[in-house]
Amino acid sequence: MIALDKAFKITIDAVVLNQLERIAPAFEDVHKVREQVEHAVKEREKIILPKNQSLFKVFVRMYNRFHQEVEILVDASKKKNMKAVQRQVNKLLNMCVRCHGLFRR
Ligand code: HEC
Repeated sequence: MIALDKAFKITIDAVVLNQLERIAPAFEDVHKVREQVEHAVKEREKIILPKNQSLFKVFVRMYNRFHQEVEILVDASKKKNMKAVQRQVNKLLNMCVRCHGLFRR
């Protein structure tokens, strides 16, 4: 989450300052974390959620969906498509809030 939080803040700065080239590198560490989490899910290792552990499947679905939207963000930033980048930033922000509402204390 630390990596993601940092990447998202860099993304907001990148939009505000019109420096979309900063977005793709910012998400490199996030991709690494994603691989670790996916591995854990596949191996059925226990991922402890602060609340609503019984909705673990929903968490995995939201997590995957979130990363699909991150991919769209990174692609849009590489194409310098500011409109699409802004749309993805809005979408991702809503997903942060929604997932935290369900699974964070
Ligand atoms: C699929 C679910 C999900 C999404 C999407 C998500 N988070 Fe989180 N986040 C969590 C959970 C669960 C925790 C609590 C982790 C814990 O306490 O063990 C957390 C914790 C955090 C924390 C507290 C620090 C930490 O490491 O615990 C920050 C900051 C954070 N998230 C930022 C973000 C931002 C920014 C986004 C969107 C760009 C986001 N999160 C999207 C599930 C999510």
